Amino acid sequence: MAKFSSLNWWTLVILFIQPIAAVYCGANSTCPEETPCCSQYGECGVGSYCLGACDPRYSFNLSACMPLPACKNTHTKFTSTDQFLSTSKYLGNASEADWIYDGHILEYEDSIIMAMPKSSGGAVVSSTRYLWYGHVDMTMKTSRGQGVITAFILFLNVQDEIDYENVGSELEVMQTNYYYQGILSYNHSTNVTTSNTFDNYHVLGVDWTEDRIEWLVDGKVSRTLTKESTWNATTRQYAYPQTPSRVQISLWPGGAVGAAPGTIAWAGGLVDWDSEDMKNPGYYYAFISEANITCYDPPVGVVKSGTSAYVYTNKEGNSSDIKITDDKTYLGSFDNTGFNPGNDKNTSNANSTESDPSVANLGVGNHPGGSGSNGVTTSSNTYTYSGFMQFAASSSIHTASTGIANAIGNTKKLLATLSIAIAGVISLAML
Ligand SMILES: *[C@@H]1O[C@H](CO)[C@@H](O)[C@H](O)[C@H]1NC(C)=O
Ligand SMILES: *[C@@H]1O[C@H](CO)[C@@H](O)[C@H](O)[C@H]1NC(C)=O
Ligand SMILES: *[C@@H]1O[C@H](CO)[C@@H](O)[C@H](O)[C@H]1NC(C)=O
Ligand SMILES: *[C@@H]1O[C@H](CO)[C@@H](O)[C@H](O)[C@H]1NC(C)=O
Ligand SMILES: *[C@@H]1O[C@H](CO)[C@@H](O)[C@H](O)[C@H]1NC(C)=O
Ligand SMILES: *[C@@H]1O[C@H](CO)[C@@H](O)[C@H](O)[C@H]1NC(C)=O
Ligand SMILES: *[C@@H]1O[C@H](CO)[C@@H](O)[C@H](O)[C@H]1NC(C)=O
Ligand SMILES: *[C@@H]1O[C@H](CO)[C@@H](O)[C@H](O)[C@H]1NC(C)=O
Ligand SMILES: *[C@@H]1O[C@H](CO)[C@@H](O)[C@H](O)[C@H]1NC(C)=O
Ligand SMILES: *[C@@H]1O[C@H](CO)[C@@H](O)[C@H](O)[C@H]1NC(C)=O
Repeated sequence: MAKFSSLNWWTLVILFIQPIAAVYCGANSTCPEETPCCSQYGECGVGSYCLGACDPRYSFNLSACMPLPACKNTHTKFTSTDQFLSTSKYLGNASEADWIYDGHILEYEDSIIMAMPKSSGGAVVSSTRYLWYGHVDMTMKTSRGQGVITAFILFLNVQDEIDYENVGSELEVMQTNYYYQGILSYNHSTNVTTSNTFDNYHVLGVDWTEDRIEWLVDGKVSRTLTKESTWNATTRQYAYPQTPSRVQISLWPGGAVGAAPGTIAWAGGLVDWDSEDMKNPGYYYAFISEANITCYDPPVGVVKSGTSAYVYTNKEGNSSDIKITDDKTYLGSFDNTGFNPGNDKNTSNANSTESDPSVANLGVGNHPGGSGSNGVTTSSNTYTYSGFMQFAASSSIHTASTGIANAIGNTKKLLATLSIAIAGVISLAML
C-alpha cells in the first residue's frame, strides 16, 4: 500500500525535471540559508517555494516561508480560465486570483475542464487562500478509466490532508481519507457510494472544525471523524488536521508506468493511453463547476495582531503554533524569500516569470532515495521532490486544438503548461 495523495504523481513527474543541484529537505535535513524554503515535495528553493505549501518544519527557519493569505468567504462559479492564475505568475498576492493552477485546464460551456493529455501529469488547481476551519463545497464530475484519479482535498503545509478521491474504474465510489503530517496510515480510508461520478455532478463537501471533520456528499453527512478519536498515546498528540489548509482539486495518473505496484493496484491498473477518451476528445477530463468556501472562526485564544495572514510560530504543526497577523503574504520577485520578501519595492520592476532562472536549469537530476519504496514518493518520505513551480514556470498558453473542440463541443481555450521540451521529458518519465 502507498499513501495515495493526489499530489504524489507530480513528484514522480518532477523527479525528471530537476535542476542538477537540487537540495532536498525532510525529517533529517532542513533547507540551507541560500535556498531556505522546503516545498511540498521536499526540495529547497526560493520564490514560489516560499509560497503555498512551504513546509515550516523543514525550512531554514520560521521566517523562510511567507505568511499564508487568510480565509475569505468565496463563491466561485467556474466559467473562465481567466479566473485562474498560473503558479508561475503567482507571487502570493491572493487579491489577484482566488485560484491558481498547474497542468492543463480549459473552458467548456459553463464549467472548467481539468485535462490529462497523453502521458502528462494532468492538472492541479489550488485556492490561493487558506482556511483555518471552515466549510467547502465543490461541485464536480470525475474523470473515468482505470488508473485515472480525480481528487478534491484540503492540503495543509505540514502535509496533513482531508481527502476525497475517485478511482476512474469505480465510478460509484468516492473514497474519503485523511492524513496527519504525512504519516502513512493504512486504515483511514472509507468509501461512500454515489451515482456515477463521471455522468453526474456531485457536491463534495468538507465541514472542518476544531473538534471534528464531516464529509458530506450532496449535502448528506457520509462520514464524521472526531478529533478525540485521533489521539495517539505514543506521541501524545491528536493526529488531527489542525493548521491552515488550502483547497486543491487534481486529476492525475495513479496508474502510471513507474509508479509503485501498490499505487497502480489501488488506481485500478495502468492508465490506458489509447482509451476512448484519449481518441476523443484526446485527453482524460474532469469538470469543476462551482466552489463555495465558508470560513469558520479560528480557535479561541489564538494570538491575533491582525486578520489577513496566518503565521507559524513553531515547527510542531500544532494548532497552538499559529498566529494571525497582517503581515504581507507576497514576494517582490521569484528571487525573494521570507527573509527578504522584497514586497515593498515597485514590483513592476521585478523579473518576470519568463526569466525565472530555475526554468533555464531544467535537466534530469539525481535524487536521494530513488523513487521511494513505492515508486511514487510519499510525503512521509520527506526527501520528496519539488519543482511543481519549475514545472509550471515553463507555462505557455495555447489555443484549443480542433480535435478537442470537436469532441466536446464549445471549447474555447486550452491552457497548457507544458512546453514541448518539458513534454518530452515527461514522456521520458512515462517509459
Ligand atoms: C531520519 O533519521 C531517523 C533516525 O536516524 C531515521 O530513523 C529515519 O529513517 C530518517 N528519516 C529519513 C526520511 O531519512
Ligand atoms: C531566519 O534566518 C534569516 C537569515 O539568516 C534571518 O534574517 C532571520 O532573522 C531568521 N529568522 C528567525 C525567526 O530566526
Ligand atoms: C494585489 O492585487 C490587487 C488586485 O490585482 C492589486 O490591486 C494590488 O495592488 C496588488 N498588491 C500589490 C502589492 O501588488
Ligand atoms: C487503525 O490502525 C491503528 C493501528 O495501526 C489502530 O490503533 C486503530 O484503531 C485503527 N483504526 C481503525 C479505525 O480501525
Ligand atoms: C473502497 O472501494 C475501492 C474500490 O473503489 C476498494 O478497492 C476498497 O477496498 C474500498 N475500501 C474500503 C475501505 O472498503
Ligand atoms: C502514533 O504515532 C506513531 C508515530 O508517528 C505511529 O508510528 C503510530 O502508528 C501511531 N499510533 C496509532 C495508533 O496511530
Ligand atoms: C454556493 O453559494 C451560492 C451563493 O450563496 C449558492 O447559490 C449555491 O447554491 C452554493 N452552491 C453550493 C454547491 O453549495
Ligand atoms: C496542541 O495545542 C493544544 C491547544 O491548541 C494543546 O492543548 C496541546 O497540548 C498541544 N499539543 C502539543 C503536542 O503540543
Ligand atoms: C512602478 O514602476 C513603473 C515603471 O517603472 C512606473 O510606471 C509606476 O508608476 C511605478 N509605480 C509605483 C507605485 O511607483
Ligand atoms: C533579474 O534577475 C537577474 C538574474 O537573477 C538579476 O541579475 C537582475 O538584477 C534582476 N532584475 C531585477 C530588476 O530584479
